[in-house]
Amino acid sequence: SRPASSFQQQCFDTARSDEERTDIDWDALGFGLVQTDFMYVMRCTLDREFSTGALNKYGNIELSPSSGVINYGQGLFEGMKAYRKEEKGNGLLLFRPEENAIRMQVGAERMCMPSPSVDQFIHAVKQTVLANKRWVPPRGKGALYIRPLLIGSGPVLGLAPAPEYMFVVYASPVGTYFKVNLVVSHRKNFDVFNLDLLQEGWAPIHLVVEEKVHRATPGGTGGVKTISNYAPVLKAQKQAKSQGFTDVIYLDSVENKYLEEASSCNLFIVKGNVISTPVTTGTILPGITRKSIMEIARDYGYQVEERLVAVEELCDADEVFCTGTAVVVAPVGSITYRGQRLQFQTGDTSVSRKLHKILVDIQMGLAKDERNWTVEI
Ligand code: COI
Repeated sequence: SRPASSFQQQCFDTARSDEERTDIDWDALGFGLVQTDFMYVMRCTLDREFSTGALNKYGNIELSPSSGVINYGQGLFEGMKAYRKEEKGNGLLLFRPEENAIRMQVGAERMCMPSPSVDQFIHAVKQTVLANKRWVPPRGKGALYIRPLLIGSGPVLGLAPAPEYMFVVYASPVGTYFKVNLVVSHRKNFDVFNLDLLQEGWAPIHLVVEEKVHRATPGGTGGVKTISNYAPVLKAQKQAKSQGFTDVIYLDSVENKYLEEASSCNLFIVKGNVISTPVTTGTILPGITRKSIMEIARDYGYQVEERLVAVEELCDADEVFCTGTAVVVAPVGSITYRGQRLQFQTGDTSVSRKLHKILVDIQMGLAKDERNWTVEI
């Protein structure tokens, strides 16, 4: 539906007329912020529900130095993507947006915040995407990444829920999350590169198992997408990167024995026809890509198990892969555990490659969407 106010009308008209005029080098897109034209903002107080929001020009937001989010980390975020449906057409596709809306509601309950309704959430996301349509990459070059944020914006001093909240949605065009660093990887003799696959962004990543730093603890917030789950892993991630690894795998904090997830994505291991992923019991983010890959894999005849996966099982795995909205499906070429480097299959015939293609074809409208996962705008 079309926006009511004249400012919003203007946003849409600007977005449409400018569609051809972004001077971006689409081939050089990685996963860095490219500022777009508009963001969506909606506000409410602790004792009220969100009512109406509006598109604003993209820009800084003003916050009290004593806002709940800055002082006590009262905030949540989501990650979503919009793809162009046809090569030259107008259609854009979102993927399972109601899942993100519901996940934000679950997280908001955990973090003592009011949350937008599912309809408000999806409306805001659609408006943000349509207003920034000229920033959606051409098909095959990436996606428009959408970042809904829910933050305690009102001032607090003593520890308490903030009195006011902001729901903000902004967007940025993105390409591949884990850009391959050919020089580093080559020097470490990590890969024999398949250049065709590489050009499509299909490049194995290299992980290291972290035993000292934990991402989440039972009873904590590892199972919701709070902003405060992310800064605490930066140190381990930075150290791993300095050693030539792409990212870190975290273990459970009680026994230091079971795989949990990587800093920004969920984990799967493949052994024969069985695909296993760590069960979400509150310390692991219930990823929407994770859930979709499990459903696809079952439909394609794989036995999918959600269970405790011991780190030792990596020694027998044929394949390991990561999933996430930003990452999509990333093949894992190696995992280093206690100094031992374990290698896995990642090529054109791998299970991860097959599942990746099935998923992305649905997300981009190239395959029939039998499960009604995509929403066209
Ligand atoms: C996503 O995959 O959308 C995420 O939110 C992970 C983030 C660290 C980029």
